[in-house]
Amino acid sequence: MTDLHRAVTLATEARKHSYSPYSHFAVGAALKLKDQEVYVPGCNVENASFGGTICAERSAVVAAVSLYGKVEFESITVVTDTNPPAFPCAFCRGVLSEFCGPELIIYLANPDGVKITTTLGDILPHPFKLV
Ligand code: THU
Repeated sequence: MTDLHRAVTLATEARKHSYSPYSHFAVGAALKLKDQEVYVPGCNVENASFGGTICAERSAVVAAVSLYGKVEFESITVVTDTNPPAFPCAFCRGVLSEFCGPELIIYLANPDGVKITTTLGDILPHPFKLV
């Protein structure tokens, strides 16, 4: 199994755990740690307040930091069932930019496979930074 195949499989599995009773829009993600065969999954977890909802990408970031601290990421794979697949929202782009540089690879997939390959720098060219 290739790295990318593994990431898509994990993100697809995570997507099955999506808690999305309000939007019915299930999202799965898998973050790959840099230079390691380690993948951290995430799914969207909605909340009745709506504002308390956490996206799949941010779930994966929070899980990765919880497990490994501040580590570097090589790629994130996001799976939705739309065509074209969905891009990370602006909040998720900003959260990714806290831990990743513009070289972070972003694979966007749907059940037919990876449809778009881009980078964080492409989709968030001027991230907000305090330092
Ligand atoms: N969602 C994500 O998981 N990732 C994104 O980048 C955008 C949106 C989720 C949040 C919510 O549960 C559902 O998709 C509809 O907005």
